[in-house]
Amino acid sequence: MERLAILGALHEEIADLLAAMDPGAAVHRIAMRDFHVGTLWGTPCVIALSRIGKVAAAATATIVIREFQVSRVIFTGLAGGLHADVDVGDVVVASTLMQHDMDARPLFDQHEIPLLGRVHFEADAVLSQQLYDSAARFTSRRDMPVIQAGATFAKPRVHHGLIATGDVFVSHNDDAQALRKRLPDALCVEMEGAAMAQICYEFGIPFAVMRVISDRADHAAKTDFTAFLQNVARVYTAGILEPLLKS
Ligand code: ADE
Repeated sequence: MERLAILGALHEEIADLLAAMDPGAAVHRIAMRDFHVGTLWGTPCVIALSRIGKVAAAATATIVIREFQVSRVIFTGLAGGLHADVDVGDVVVASTLMQHDMDARPLFDQHEIPLLGRVHFEADAVLSQQLYDSAARFTSRRDMPVIQAGATFAKPRVHHGLIATGDVFVSHNDDAQALRKRLPDALCVEMEGAAMAQICYEFGIPFAVMRVISDRADHAAKTDFTAFLQNVARVYTAGILEPLLKS
């Protein structure tokens, strides 16, 4: 049986998915995490909270692949916008991911994963296209949730491109600027995607990453992130994944 893993780093990012699972989902507790195994909108799934960061994401990805034999993995959650075109409320679907904090120079090139000989991990083209199409339909809905921390954002856009991952919450303008300079193609920054991607690559499992932009990785990032997490994050995840899983 084909089974899809859906992972998120924070409870709010997957709460509506857990609530929508068919009754009778089994909960398996492994390595201090709950793995919810059942059916979501007609698709056999395992849903889990990874917790924040690269190690947590890698461990969780390994568990869903080895213990639950998933055939595909989706990581969903929030991210800080880096690229000038990527604003709060937008959605980014990864075409490829890299670990911006990997630096084993002078032994290896900057960003290269040592002994794996690669910097980038390519997301599955078909799954990513499905996420992109579903996100585009969701963001063009009239009843889009548009209030974030008292501000309205303009019509959200959906982007497809490079996501940069590292064990750091970027919340200083200087750090965000340095990342933009070093990685001009990076659309957004988050803390799990490329670690999960590395594990999926090593196991030969197709994966995709979808991120909703909660902040601009600047001095206001903490406030923006918190408000977005509380008010909007869950609406996006369910609103984009429901039509995709039902189709
Ligand atoms: N996830 C959401 N916002 C982020 C930021 N500013 N830095 C890293 N990860 C994030």
